[in-house]
Amino acid sequence: MATPHINAKDGAFAETVLMPGDPLRAQLIAETFLEGAERVTNVRNVFGYTGTYKGKRLSVMAHGMGIPSASIYTTELIKDYGVKNIIRIGSCGAVTPDIKLRELFIAMGASTDSKVNRMRFNDHDYAAIADYTLLRTLVDTAAEQGKKVTVGNVFSADLFYGVQPNMLDVLSRMQVNVIEMELAGIYAVAAQYGARAAGILTVSDIIPTGEATSAEERQTSFRDMMEVALDAAIK
Ligand code: ADE
Repeated sequence: MATPHINAKDGAFAETVLMPGDPLRAQLIAETFLEGAERVTNVRNVFGYTGTYKGKRLSVMAHGMGIPSASIYTTELIKDYGVKNIIRIGSCGAVTPDIKLRELFIAMGASTDSKVNRMRFNDHDYAAIADYTLLRTLVDTAAEQGKKVTVGNVFSADLFYGVQPNMLDVLSRMQVNVIEMELAGIYAVAAQYGARAAGILTVSDIIPTGEATSAEERQTSFRDMMEVALDAAIK
């Protein structure tokens, strides 16, 4: 049955859903990588598709920007559509000097300035972590493909603009390598409703210097990330 934000039929999603932030990215992924992809939901133009990849059923759907949006879509996919595995595919900004532009980053843990997990967890600090099996599959798949990845802690920020300047020093000191905006919410939703989640990201900018990837570089690193995410998704 449809939910407030997804108008797909029952059983329309595969057990595993790849989730970019951008609905047009979801469409591009479906058209480029999936065979026989059908659009299964279009509420608010947040498109979702199901097709096959190397003969296995696979879905892709956008989660929008920020923890509130991502939490809505992941909750409804898991609770109402029986989705078992969620792989976020996105971008991030690097804060520690060891992380370079265009590299791949797999999020083992997700720290955050959002209060959502305290609301879930009796006001205590929940350790939002990736599912180990999914994380390991992503890491192993990257290794098989000869791709360098860093595995570490992300900061899921509520603010894209106006992050406190000293926050970068704090993150660096605590070895939180990159900033993105969704994974702390997605990991906790998966835990709460009994699914598995992990995130793989490409480094699109270096926050302390303002350095950013060109459109062409974004394409290459996006393809690198997709090759890992797709092969991991069907294992
Ligand atoms: N995603 C990509 N770059 C980012 C940044 N600088 N802050 C938050 N999310 C991002």
